Amino acid sequence: MTPAPAGAPDRSPADLAARFEREFGKAPDGVWQAPGRVNLIGEHTDYNEGFVLPFAIDRTARVAVSVRPDSVVRLLSTYGDHGMVSADVTALDAASAKGWTKYPLGVMWALQQRGIAVPGLDLLLDSNVPLGAGLSSSHAIECAVISALNELTGAGLEPEEMVLATQRAENDFVGAPTGIMDQSASLRGAKGHAVFLDCRDQSVELVPFEAEPAGLVMLVIDTKVSHSHADGGYASRRASCELGAEVLGVKALRDVKSGDLAEASGLLDEVTYRRVRHVVTENERVLQTVQLLATEGPGAIGALLDASHASMRDDFEISCPELDLAVATSRANGAIGARMTGGGFGGAAIALTPLAEEQKVRAAVERAFAEAGYKAPEIFTVTPAAGAMRLQ
Ligand code: GLA
Repeated sequence: MTPAPAGAPDRSPADLAARFEREFGKAPDGVWQAPGRVNLIGEHTDYNEGFVLPFAIDRTARVAVSVRPDSVVRLLSTYGDHGMVSADVTALDAASAKGWTKYPLGVMWALQQRGIAVPGLDLLLDSNVPLGAGLSSSHAIECAVISALNELTGAGLEPEEMVLATQRAENDFVGAPTGIMDQSASLRGAKGHAVFLDCRDQSVELVPFEAEPAGLVMLVIDTKVSHSHADGGYASRRASCELGAEVLGVKALRDVKSGDLAEASGLLDEVTYRRVRHVVTENERVLQTVQLLATEGPGAIGALLDASHASMRDDFEISCPELDLAVATSRANGAIGARMTGGGFGGAAIALTPLAEEQKVRAAVERAFAEAGYKAPEIFTVTPAAGAMRLQ
């Protein structure tokens, strides 16, 4: 079984609670949900203490949870994989954690690292965030779980602290050296808004972003090329950025401006220079996007999306042929701007598309993928949705 498809209408919290009761023999203490995200712009800038502009999407992970009187942890998902997984909350072990269970177990572990007493619990997960598509299905799970545990343990963590705890879970339990963008979008997103986040101090400004009133639609093209940020590519890009910052004598690449690039090119090897140039120009594109959204609206940001993709393809080298084809085909068939979104090496592209061109873009991308002999992409629309919340 796979997660429910786009916008599945029948995912009621009451049904999840009823299923929980059938599986675990008692009602859950509550049901919480957290969304996946699309990043509008600002890629690989978060761990460089820069700027990002993601939004929470209308695809969510939901968890029904009840606290147990002992230290047993039982985890089950509606996807059916791995069956019921058991663990002991006093001996959480990353090496033996399987599949999606790494995420809830990682969150429990990270809370323990902050000195929070985490009880044994029963947990049932349901999610319709596509897996491995670059839409942060893992952070959706982590953010739903941390929202539940924050309440159930009475820890009272602020969203900024929950962001850092889920980052710790990802970095030190799951083994993916990721930044803070995804969980910030999932925990701090709001309907009809993108989350303009300064990753140096975690300050957030919610920026109105709605495609439809501007006659547009945000298409997501899941290339079905799966990726994992625990593989080497993400970590090697991060290492290049850290090397660049060290050679340039700054705390983080956030502190380099495009006016500094000419001088930087003389100090850095050619590859590191291109990695740095991506981050520096991408940070500036985020700021320009925020500005343009405020003054002119979504119809004005297409060129920045295109420039972001070119920078990731040519300078940061994290695209792949399927993503490039999705972007180029969308643009050639009416999208006003398109780019890969997320960490790269697979996953999804976004294409900001006039409503009148939506069907044309969809058909053209499907045809282009078939002609290239690629797996059929999944294409769907997303809108900026609310961040994590308790449902019942
Ligand atoms: C992944 C990571 C984020 C961020 C993006 C790239 O989604 O989880 O922290 O680095 O890649 O922008």
